[in-house]
Amino acid sequence: MAKKFIADRAEFKPSVLMQLAGLSKGMDDLIDLSIGDPDFTTPEPILTAGYQDALKGYTHYSPAKGYPDTIQAVVGSYKRDLGIEIAPENVLIAASGAYSCFLACFSTINPGDELLVADPTFLAYKAQIAYAGGMPVFFPTYEKDDWRIKAENAEPFITEKTKGIFLCNPNNPTGACLHREDLQAIYDLAEKYDLMIYADEIYTAYSYEVPFTSMLSIPGAAKRTIVINSLSKNFVATGARLGWIIAQPEIINACTMVGVNVVYTAPAISQRMAKFALNQGTQYMGDIMKEFKDRMFKTAERINRIPHLSVQCPPPGTFYLFVNVKETGLDDVEFTMKVLKEAHVTVVPGSDFGELGKGYVRICATVGLPKLMEACDRIKALGL
Ligand SMILES: Cc1ncc(COP(=O)(O)O)c(C=O)c1O
Repeated sequence: MAKKFIADRAEFKPSVLMQLAGLSKGMDDLIDLSIGDPDFTTPEPILTAGYQDALKGYTHYSPAKGYPDTIQAVVGSYKRDLGIEIAPENVLIAASGAYSCFLACFSTINPGDELLVADPTFLAYKAQIAYAGGMPVFFPTYEKDDWRIKAENAEPFITEKTKGIFLCNPNNPTGACLHREDLQAIYDLAEKYDLMIYADEIYTAYSYEVPFTSMLSIPGAAKRTIVINSLSKNFVATGARLGWIIAQPEIINACTMVGVNVVYTAPAISQRMAKFALNQGTQYMGDIMKEFKDRMFKTAERINRIPHLSVQCPPPGTFYLFVNVKETGLDDVEFTMKVLKEAHVTVVPGSDFGELGKGYVRICATVGLPKLMEACDRIKALGL
């Protein structure tokens, strides 16, 4: 009965990942490598800063764009960490990175607009573009390029309806980190065809091989770039639901208008956490980031010693490993199912992230090294 009331855009299609949750129920020894949520609790000083400010009365709506000192903390962190000058008018504090992305889509995409999205992709882009009435148009990225987004692979998909290009750097699910020349080429493409650049940079802190380079560091790019960032990964604070948008003031104003009519303002206590984290929280992240790097490097090495599996090593960034399983003779869904049923290890099939993800599985280094090694041992023992 209720089904007839559901809008077309909200049609529920369970992903393979959702089906896996059902299949793994009751497996006491399950090792779940499917979760893109850091296993660490947010460092105590960051939590305490939020709590202390809450006690002082930060328990209300904030100004529509966020508390001025939280905005200033974003401005200060970009200057200090990346050498990038932005002004408070360029910042909107919003309720999470995901919602920031939604606001960017809703404030800039008109029905019929086409948006270029790298395949494989973080799936929310596809849905959020569609919710805004736009059309995601996928262009390929390849393992042979270390999954780096190449402007020349996007250019053939540009039509007169193309409004912008989405970048996820560092990338979920592939772990790819873009080099300065990749970003420059994407910016040149955007200039040539007058495109907006949507740069999701929420894994800023997880770039191991090349220093993280923001799209905003490319001269001229700021005028046509919307950066999305958040506390979630860089400060292991997914539960804070706190993100921010950096863009030109006209776009910030448009996002604020949409936001005020949907969520109103970002959570006050999380904004106080963000203020502290961005000003002085990096000192508490050193051991956590070292641990992620260690897990990534050791797990990538270990995977490459399992016959018929391979992964980029050393891994470039994030806490995701995008493992090639083609030589096992199984497709990525078959591999995922077999590994779950017979080794009690959950991974995510690459095809969940797009056509080009076929033949790969995503492993999250969001459990400790002993479990990661145990998962590799179990997979190896299957003799695939
Ligand atoms: C690429 C990417 N963008 C955005 C998000 C959403 O992050 P947040 O927790 O800030 O909403 C995620 C979460 O996994 C992600 O992987």
